[in-house]
Amino acid sequence: MKAINLLKDLDIQIIAPSHGLIWRNPKEIIDLYEKWARYGTETAGEEGVTFLYASMYGNTEKLMGAVAQGLSQEGIPIKIFDVARTHVSYILPYLWKYRGVVIGTPTYEAKLFPPMAYVLDIATSKRVINKEVIRFGSYGWSGGAQRDLEPRLDKLKWNLLEFYEWQGGPTLEDFQKGEELGKRFAQHLKNLYLTRENE
Ligand SMILES: Cc1cc2nc3c(=O)[nH]c(=O)nc-3n(C[C@H](O)[C@H](O)[C@H](O)COP(=O)(O)O)c2cc1C
Repeated sequence: MKAINLLKDLDIQIIAPSHGLIWRNPKEIIDLYEKWARYGTETAGEEGVTFLYASMYGNTEKLMGAVAQGLSQEGIPIKIFDVARTHVSYILPYLWKYRGVVIGTPTYEAKLFPPMAYVLDIATSKRVINKEVIRFGSYGWSGGAQRDLEPRLDKLKWNLLEFYEWQGGPTLEDFQKGEELGKRFAQHLKNLYLTRENE
C-alpha cells in the first residue's frame, strides 16, 4: 500500500519486474494489489471459508461433510481442500481471499497431521494473517494436534473460535456436533460482515 501510494502520481506505462510477468496494462494489476493488500489489513478477506482437511483413515474426513453442510446451509461460500492431496499453491489464494478458515485434522505423533502443519507453515511465511478459525479432528488416545495448533495460530494472528475433537470414528452425535459447529461459524462470519456494513 505504501509503495502504491508513493507512485500514485506517476504515469506508469509498463511494469517489468525482474522476476514475473510484464504488465502492459499496469492499472489492472495495481488495482488488484491494492485489493489484496487490504485483505491483509483492514478487511482480512471476503465473506467465505477456506476449508482445509486431511485424514489418514477417514475419521476426520467423515465429519468434513457435516461441518461443510452446517456452513453451506447458512449460504457461506466455501472452498474445500484435502491438504494431503492438493499442492499448497492452489490453497494459498483462497486463504488470502476468504476471512474464515476451517482446519480439519487428526492427531499424528502427538502433533498436527504433517500435511496440515506444512500448509500453516507456508501461510506463516507468506504472512496470511488475521483470519477467523474453527478446528475439528479425531484422535486415537491422548491427542496433541490441538496443543500443537494453538501456538501456530498465535503466530498467524488467527482467531480460534472453537474446536471439536472425538476419539476414533465419529458417532451420530459427533456428526450433529460437527454440523452445529459449521452453522455457528457461518453465523459468526455473517455477523462480522453485518457489523461492518452498519459501521
Ligand atoms: C502414524 C500415526 C500416529 C498417530 N499418533 C497419535 C498420537 O500421537 N496421539 C493420538 O491420540 N492418536 C494418534 N494416532 C491415532 C489417530 O489420531 C486416530 O487413528 C484418528 O482417528 C485418525 O483420524 P483420521 O482417520 O482422520 O486420520 C496416530 C495414528 C497414526 C496412523
